[in-house]
Amino acid sequence: MILDGKHHAQLLLATLKDECASLTKRFERTPSLHVILVGQISSSQIYVGMKEKRAHDIGIKSVVHRLPDTVDEKAVLALISTLNHNQDVDGILVQLPLPAHIDTNNVIESICPQKDVDGLTSINLGRLVRGDEYLIPCTPRGCLHLIHAWKQDISGLHAVVVGRSALVGKSLALLLTGRDATVTLCHSKTINLSAFTRQADIIIAACGVPGLITGNHIKPGACVIDVGINRRPDGTLTGDVDFNTAHPIADAITPVPFGVGPMTVAYLMANTLRAMQQRLNGTMPIPLLH
Ligand code: GUN
Repeated sequence: MILDGKHHAQLLLATLKDECASLTKRFERTPSLHVILVGQISSSQIYVGMKEKRAHDIGIKSVVHRLPDTVDEKAVLALISTLNHNQDVDGILVQLPLPAHIDTNNVIESICPQKDVDGLTSINLGRLVRGDEYLIPCTPRGCLHLIHAWKQDISGLHAVVVGRSALVGKSLALLLTGRDATVTLCHSKTINLSAFTRQADIIIAACGVPGLITGNHIKPGACVIDVGINRRPDGTLTGDVDFNTAHPIADAITPVPFGVGPMTVAYLMANTLRAMQQRLNGTMPIPLLH
């Protein structure tokens, strides 16, 4: 079974389009997503372009603030403060990575948690730790959707997550725990990685090492989710999983591209609508505005 992210994302986007129309009617304005893009990293420009296009497709207003890589941190913080206070702004996303002279944590923490559609502020990550899922990072949410397309009930299954970033690995480990999976979190320093992954019912590869997970790492019948997006010298994309050796062993597997990627973008749209709805309904548990 190939877990076709493009297909699942299209289904989700169709329902979000309806939701967007009803929010637009109810609140008499278009939901809006503001993306801050610093510098010229080509992959970031491609990702931001995809986010803009999807937003447009479903009726979300998308604004991209392009800043030069020489911009100082204060100017980024000032822009975020303006967006935080603008009542017509529903979602704010700072595309990562930022240039080295800018403190990423300072920037992320300055985003109003009500508008933090990446779910990366300590308030939203803290809520996730507590099991209170408010605005959840989009890639882990997309992975979970694909895992559920394989099996609805993952209670008691052993999930091995390879990668420990806040953006993917750690957040996904929390989400899976919340659905009663037994979770092992592995990373680049794990000794004898395959001893862990071979026990897994679900493997999530999110470590940024092309082809790290091969057929030898996989228990027959497992579900394999590949979060990696790596560019080969010839310009084509490849994941963290060696698809050709993994595919015959796995019961379900995501391709790269068109696996997790489209789901991430779809959940960004979902989070933008959710952020608007909850902020304007006043149902956000702690209304904070920096
Ligand atoms: N860079 C790569 N993936 C992401 C993401 O999901 N969010 C942000 N903000 N930056 C990214």
